[in-house]
Amino acid sequence: MKIDFVDADAPAGAKTAVAVLAFEDGLMSPPATALDQSLGGLIGRAIAGSRFKGAMGQILELIGVNGQDAARLVIVGAGKKPEFDDRVAELAAAHAYNAVKTSGCETLVLRLADSTAEQGARAAFGVTLAAYRFDRYRTTEKADKKPSVTKVQIAIDEPKPAAKAFKPHSSLADSIILARDLVSEPANILYPEEFARRVKKLTDLGLEVEILGEKEMKKLGMGALLGVGQGSVRESQLAVIQWKGAKDSSAQPVAFVGKGVCFDTGGISLKPADGMEEMITDMGGAAAVTGVMRALAARKAKVNAVGILGLVENMPDGNAQRPGDVVTTMSGQTVEVINTDAEGRLVLADAVWYCQQRFKPKFLIDLATLTGAIVVALGKDIAGLYSNDDTLAENLLAASKASDETLWRMPLPAAYEKQIDSAVADVKNTGGRPGGSITAALFIQRFIKDTTWAHLDIATTAWKPGSTVPTIPSGATGFGVRLLDRLVANNYED
Ligand code: BES
Ligand code: MN
Ligand code: ZN
Repeated sequence: MKIDFVDADAPAGAKTAVAVLAFEDGLMSPPATALDQSLGGLIGRAIAGSRFKGAMGQILELIGVNGQDAARLVIVGAGKKPEFDDRVAELAAAHAYNAVKTSGCETLVLRLADSTAEQGARAAFGVTLAAYRFDRYRTTEKADKKPSVTKVQIAIDEPKPAAKAFKPHSSLADSIILARDLVSEPANILYPEEFARRVKKLTDLGLEVEILGEKEMKKLGMGALLGVGQGSVRESQLAVIQWKGAKDSSAQPVAFVGKGVCFDTGGISLKPADGMEEMITDMGGAAAVTGVMRALAARKAKVNAVGILGLVENMPDGNAQRPGDVVTTMSGQTVEVINTDAEGRLVLADAVWYCQQRFKPKFLIDLATLTGAIVVALGKDIAGLYSNDDTLAENLLAASKASDETLWRMPLPAAYEKQIDSAVADVKNTGGRPGGSITAALFIQRFIKDTTWAHLDIATTAWKPGSTVPTIPSGATGFGVRLLDRLVANNYED
């Protein structure tokens, strides 16, 4: 997508859609009013003759209007006028793009005169995210099935400052898109070593990347992570990504740990065939961590940060781990593997331990597509937040509000611990059906020392077949990148 910032009254050519905003209670934005006047009140009459009420995302299109070069005029609902802000600019712009993306128009001109540079920048950000499409493997798609809009112009009073304000948003969008691409890639392409290779490329931005293979992890005693990968012909990897942006490069870092199960068959506790293909997304936590590390480096955040990715493939095989196996984690605690499909928590047990041992972080947040149970509890749009620290939880909830990545805090009841007590080992990897997402979180907590910790269960928020947010097309969402970048920006920089 090519995005330009142009003068507010830049003319619109043919094959162009011109979008203006209108609000509730019959109020129009200044560009909508100007357009209405130049057309002798046409916009007002069109609104009056329709059900358009200006609600957020409502669309009214006028096609082939006499005397206009533009093929389409699009009135975009932007909610209540006094509530118009940066966030609304982003969402309304995304709605405008979505409305015309396959219309046949090649250019979208979004008229935002009287808006701030930041609002213009956020509009461009919204369009960039909305226009995401994973089409690397479509070789025969007809041109008339592809999105027709390839150029977007943000028409605004001061295009230069808006273009400048877009720079950081544009690089954040690139980081979200990196996470989306990683989630979208099929597992025959993106297996642990390939994931590690892609992470290594981020050294260009100033990130330090180390990759540990199975030999190194064996030496460290990571029996739980290695047990998950043991049925796969692909070698398990642990990626360690560091960003040193704080004034003091030895200052305590913040840490993010991601579940990177490149494919989850369930292992010997094999999943049903129906929908198993979605398990290419079971590295959504690792993708989000990769994205946020990239984002921090790209904007040279004044913070030290560590990202750890536990990269494995969970396969059934003659050498795969069995239900009933007992594995020893790096922490020394033993785990009875009741169900080989509860593999994410096994990977995380070793990854979070390694992270705490080596980096003693200020806080540790793990992200994982961990349980189907969180989908039952919170539905498709909300991720589960677990934390042993109220301040971190509140900071996350505040960042969540600002980034449209919704979280809901879940409890860590001590009384449920007995569901994961094992008769033969220190802990078992499933706690039965009741509170399935909670017992998974409690399991991870057993591997948290005295670290400030939060766990985000992002099963299904990482991947949405049909999205309700205009900046998130159906498919990979990149959930977590924006949230954690905001969390750091709001609270943890020098
Ligand atoms: N990767 C899955 C969780 C998942 C489910 C992610 C749906 C995205 C969409 C995880 O490894 C898993 O299989 N969890 C099991 C745990 C159970 C065996 C205790 C589950 O949720 O069913
Ligand atoms: Mn599983
Ligand atoms: Zn899984």
